[in-house]
Amino acid sequence: MSARRYDRRLGIKTVGLRERDGRSHYHRYEATPYEALDSLFQAYRFRKTRRVVDFGCGRGRVAFYIHHHFHVPVVGIEEHDQTYEEALNNKSSYRHKAMHIRAPIHLKYGLAEHYEVKAIDNCFYFFNPFSSKVFKQVVSNIMRSLDRDRRSADMILYYPMPEYKRILRHKTPFRLINKVRVSAACDKREKFLIYRLSR
Ligand SMILES: C[S@@+](CC[C@H](N)C(=O)[O-])C[C@H]1O[C@@H](n2cnc3c(N)ncnc32)[C@H](O)[C@@H]1O
Repeated sequence: MSARRYDRRLGIKTVGLRERDGRSHYHRYEATPYEALDSLFQAYRFRKTRRVVDFGCGRGRVAFYIHHHFHVPVVGIEEHDQTYEEALNNKSSYRHKAMHIRAPIHLKYGLAEHYEVKAIDNCFYFFNPFSSKVFKQVVSNIMRSLDRDRRSADMILYYPMPEYKRILRHKTPFRLINKVRVSAACDKREKFLIYRLSR
């Protein structure tokens, strides 16, 4: 199914790119492909997930997809004002179709590195939203929250950058538990890495 058709089903508009200054720490908007999300969720099951956080949620595709399929509470954080507005419009149109799903959807405008990680947040999603410097800061916020309110958590990276992997391997107790390749992908980096901290 094409991305536009998938979007129509959910009542959202997430197709397209929004380029940024290549020197910025903050990367462009591009949504995780739907086929990739289908592959991920054939292999990954939400078990004790209380809330998923998409750092750099863009127009919200991942948040709405997860909410629609798994009825799990989701938070999306986005710092680009126009992209955030588009995500809010998507939330209104999606909610018309998904009134029966009680799990909340929160979209927050602001920087991921300023987001205060809550005790219910225990699954963290990243599709290359920012530089490794910003990622390090976000991971440190996550670790502080996981230590303060001791709990297990998963971290999912799509199209992982080597620096992100290095940070998780050397600076955190998260361990790689699964790699999910996207069916029919030619690009070797088109995969998900799933990390877990078990407590
Ligand atoms: C590659 S897109 C991923 C979108 C979405 N997560 C998905 O997978 O469909 C990255 C998004 O992160 C946003 N972003 C970049 N730096 C950010 C930051 N520091 N805080 C919040 N959002 C950020 C960009 O504006 C962009 O919309």
